[in-house]
Amino acid sequence: MASALPHRNSSFETPSLPLQSRHSLGEVWGGLCEFEELPPVDKWLQSYFRRNRKFGKRDRTLVRNQIFLALRHLEALTHHSLEMENLNREEEPAWIPQTIWERARTLSWAELCATSNSLAELPLHQQGRSVPRFFDDHLLLRQQRSEWSRQEALAFARSQNKPAPLWIRLNTVHLGAKETAAQLQESGVNILEQLDDRLRVQANTSLYHTPSFAAGAFEIQDWSSQEIGAHCWSSLTHSRENCPHSSFKVWDCCAGAGGKTLQLATLLRNKGAIYSTDIRQRPLQELKKRAKRDGLTNIRTMVWDATEKLSLPRSVACRGGYDLVLIDAPCSSSGTWRRNPEARYRFKSQTLSDFKSLQANLLRTASAAVAPGGVLTYSTCSWFVEENEQQIDDFLNWANGEYSLISQNLHQEPNGNSDTMFSACLRKNT
Ligand SMILES: C[S@@+](CC[C@H](N)C(=O)[O-])C[C@H]1O[C@@H](n2cnc3c(N)ncnc32)[C@H](O)[C@@H]1O
Repeated sequence: MASALPHRNSSFETPSLPLQSRHSLGEVWGGLCEFEELPPVDKWLQSYFRRNRKFGKRDRTLVRNQIFLALRHLEALTHHSLEMENLNREEEPAWIPQTIWERARTLSWAELCATSNSLAELPLHQQGRSVPRFFDDHLLLRQQRSEWSRQEALAFARSQNKPAPLWIRLNTVHLGAKETAAQLQESGVNILEQLDDRLRVQANTSLYHTPSFAAGAFEIQDWSSQEIGAHCWSSLTHSRENCPHSSFKVWDCCAGAGGKTLQLATLLRNKGAIYSTDIRQRPLQELKKRAKRDGLTNIRTMVWDATEKLSLPRSVACRGGYDLVLIDAPCSSSGTWRRNPEARYRFKSQTLSDFKSLQANLLRTASAAVAPGGVLTYSTCSWFVEENEQQIDDFLNWANGEYSLISQNLHQEPNGNSDTMFSACLRKNT
């Protein structure tokens, strides 16, 4: 990517930051630097603030924003501070994401910020290594596969360095969209954008403490995740055009806490049946709680390793399988790194290889449970081609004509204001 670097001798911290907050930033940064490997920073900050009661609400927000801003631009900041602008991959073959943290943690907050400009404000081509170097190979593959121009690739890279927005999905089974939107505004939630039942919001209060949340009137779910649910639904209803929705049987085989299960259960208007499984018990317990709050009764849960062949319930076996099988696969989560910018420095290529084998395994095993004429949807919250289109190409080769591709998409809200996710819908040929 571009190599021009930001100007020196200006401050990273915003001029409006009070002196005390600058001091606190140094303290918090020092605490974080004690970790050899970066922890999930959001969680760590929450517990840090619980232990250090002197931080008021305003300070907590200021400190959090500044730490996250630094983490987003860590590679550029580290280069500057260590005066290594001219390093390139040949000179530094061991340049891996964790190395950036190894270097950054040897610096004080003042050293880290002393030589940098307000990076977030600069166009990407002036940001130097604000987007980590290891993005480059993945970005090139993505650029080729999505047939992006260089400008589009740069715009995408830049969007990955912005703070993430907050999207919610209205549960319209029991309440109308207008009614919920009005209730939310009464609770101090600003609605910035509305696309049908998808709302981009800014909350001055915790959304979890609003009466609308307690009443199950909405779920927090990113725009792209909602787009995956919408694609599942449209492929399912097309492939089963003449069937009543109440007859649909769905298997969500990596259901987690049920973001997509709940959306599909809502689209089914609480009819049909969704079998939601996950290898872990705990997220399924959370899913049950959420379903109860949302008034949804068409969901059954079970702990299951989806790399094992599933014996179908009798009502599903008699029709040859499920109308829809959704594999929302475990992945690098690269499309959500805007939310937790430190995750990119924890990234290990071995973990990516492990995910790729698991994803291929899930596709081969879970696809056996799709009924003839039914739909298989594979999705990830990653933008890496290897975890997405490449997996689908390999699966289609392996399936040897048993499946046809309906559509595959990289999802991101048109203005880039969402996570980046992928989904492919395939039809099982009759
Ligand atoms: C991307 S998350 C699912 C998110 C969820 N579908 C949603 O929309 O909120 C992937 C899930 O796959 C689960 N998983 C990992 N390996 C699995 C396996 N072998 N069988 C079933 N689930 C698995 C993980 O526990 C995790 O909850």
